[in-house]
Amino acid sequence: MRVLLMQDVSAAGVAELDGFELVRGSDPTGFDGVVCFLIDPVDERILATPGLRGLATVSVGLDHIDLAAADRLNIPIAYTPDVLTEATADLTFALILAAARRLGEAERYLRGGRWREWSFDLLLGTDVHGKTLAVIGSGRIGRAVARRAEGFSMRVLAVGRDRAQLEATLAEADFVAVTVPLSDETRHLIGPAELALMKPGAILVNTSRGPVVDEAALADALASGHLGGAGLDVFEHEPEVHPALLEQERAVLVPHIGSATRETRDGMAALACRGLAQILRNERPPNLANPQVWDRRSG
Ligand code: DGY
Repeated sequence: MRVLLMQDVSAAGVAELDGFELVRGSDPTGFDGVVCFLIDPVDERILATPGLRGLATVSVGLDHIDLAAADRLNIPIAYTPDVLTEATADLTFALILAAARRLGEAERYLRGGRWREWSFDLLLGTDVHGKTLAVIGSGRIGRAVARRAEGFSMRVLAVGRDRAQLEATLAEADFVAVTVPLSDETRHLIGPAELALMKPGAILVNTSRGPVVDEAALADALASGHLGGAGLDVFEHEPEVHPALLEQERAVLVPHIGSATRETRDGMAALACRGLAQILRNERPPNLANPQVWDRRSG
């Protein structure tokens, strides 16, 4: 059987596909299975490829895949829940700390040769310990961020889907961490109105998907001094970053590296590829994004 790899997969993933013919490319014609990544849009045309029996994405996010089409066309999809939870929560907390203590600015200051002498009020940030953290999204990653916050003696407010709860929490929190998946419901969940509700000096961190936050509105909220900082791992039009955000010294910006540790990326590659191998061998993988498709097929 033939498997199309839409990007390079690490050896840990390739090992799970032992016995399959692997080809790196983008045209799924003539393949039994496909391995894709979050940068590969998977539309109805790809999913309707004659003979295609399954797909695996090396990601927990599924917003790049037309799930409704996969459902109609009965294509099972394996994905990578759980394995990246802790690494992504680590990076979320790193961004909270970096934005609070102005680490990006401080490093640019030192490397730029501007550090002439120590001074009492140089690059003052804000405390993290003992503050209030709102975690928007109470899924696996949100809960892992909340566990870390407990170690910093923070008060954690978990926000679900309730609009009134979101508004009340935004007004109360010193830090807001966005961890919800992208959907029609969550696109621009944090826009001008929500940013205006945040406490003066509060810090926003986003490690979910860029379009959940209105980047232009966030840049305005930083430029006006209303927000005290931001930490972003994800952007609305990756790899483009809104030019107004790049101008904000108080924004810590990193290139979608939430799960980018060797151990986690190997775990993701292995889980996704093992899932696809199981689908192609007619074994039910535990990590199906659309289990109803499998149940229908075997029912
Ligand atoms: C995912 O898997 O969806 C993450 O964004 C990758 O880090």
